[in-house]
Amino acid sequence: MKYKPLLEYKNKHQEISPYHVAIIMDGNGRWANQQGKIRILGHKEGFKAVRKAIKFSIKKKIKILTLYAFSSENWNRPSCEINSLMELFLFALDSEIKNLKKYNIKLKVIGDITYFNKKLQKSIYNAEQLTLNNTGLILNIAANYGGRWDIIKGVKKIINKVQQGVLQINNIKENTLTQHLSTRKLLPVDLVIRTGGEKRISNFLLWEIAYSELYFTDVLWPDFDHNIFQNAINSFISRERRFGGFKGYEK
Ligand code: IPE
Ligand code: IPE
Ligand code: MG
Repeated sequence: MKYKPLLEYKNKHQEISPYHVAIIMDGNGRWANQQGKIRILGHKEGFKAVRKAIKFSIKKKIKILTLYAFSSENWNRPSCEINSLMELFLFALDSEIKNLKKYNIKLKVIGDITYFNKKLQKSIYNAEQLTLNNTGLILNIAANYGGRWDIIKGVKKIINKVQQGVLQINNIKENTLTQHLSTRKLLPVDLVIRTGGEKRISNFLLWEIAYSELYFTDVLWPDFDHNIFQNAINSFISRERRFGGFKGYEK
């Protein structure tokens, strides 16, 4: 049987920069602690780093930038921190909408946003609709997102189709699940960057990163800048992606 790698994606462009970069933006709280500030001020500073990451992605012609903003486990935090994060999210969406238009950015939010208040849900919906036809950077924000949540949601949709008789069990392939995830319209993730020093995935894109390159840095998210982003890209470019095969051999 001919085996096709799950997330194989080859493109000449990857020699210059990756197509799809996903970032686990960690370390806001520790940054604030180091400055003797309250945690929310770390998140506010983190928002500035988000703008830098977006600008640099555009400059480097990265096609998709997926940012992990709030995980399905982040509800385990004190309610005052969660509320402040939601307010910041709302503020960021409303204040940046003009820039999304100006820079031709298409915004997409993945995650269970039904947990958010109505005002925030409406802002998300508006921003997505207003930028739907933009053709530049695809900015994908993971909010109340969990990789396991997404996989379960996808599996339920598949089971539904099987029960309705529109899909045969034997026809369920890896691509079937790929096509039932929140990220189905996006290209595979080439590079995952995690700031803040931890070397874990924390329930981010689980299925999608099977063959991604991983880059960890101790830099705390509010200190993230163009140089650190470029270091991650340089590391990515220097790596040989084999997808289970080996160099010089093409099937
Ligand atoms: C990441 O920074 C932002 C969110 C998870 C919302 P943290 O708030 O996790 O910062 P640290 O890891 O405690 O420093
Ligand atoms: C991961 O950071 C989630 C986001 C960056 C949104 P966490 O701070 O929540 O991860 P853990 O708890 O250290 O694994
Ligand atoms: Mg953290």
